[in-house]
Amino acid sequence: MDKISWKDEYSVGIKEIDAQHKKLINIMNRLIEMRNARVDSELISETLTEMTEYASKHFETEEKYMVEYDYPDYDAHKKVHKEFKKKTAFFCVDTMSHKETIPIEILTFLKDWWINHILKSDMKYKEFFREKGVV
Ligand code: FEO
Repeated sequence: MDKISWKDEYSVGIKEIDAQHKKLINIMNRLIEMRNARVDSELISETLTEMTEYASKHFETEEKYMVEYDYPDYDAHKKVHKEFKKKTAFFCVDTMSHKETIPIEILTFLKDWWINHILKSDMKYKEFFREKGVV
């Protein structure tokens, strides 16, 4: 599986959010790199935990901007974040309890989810925040 390379088209125009997306991509790339490592290694559990915790932190940041500027699609976006957290929490527990390595379908899901979410859902607010002068 190829790692994710940051592209300018992923930028939502807000420095703090772009930096968080870059860090999430970095964590994802580390998971992709260790796809053959056994899940009982400390590194895997630490990295999976880091990814879920950092995703939550990132969602909170994004939602904070949305509330502050009264973003019209806030409820729907927050719901998508919540579904991701629920799904990944399940994947992580299932992987750590029942698998030997991180299943490829989980890595595929995570990789596709982040790219699609940034390019489709997050990108919808780019113009809104730009008009509000948020950078
Ligand atoms: Fe960047 Fe909506 O997560």
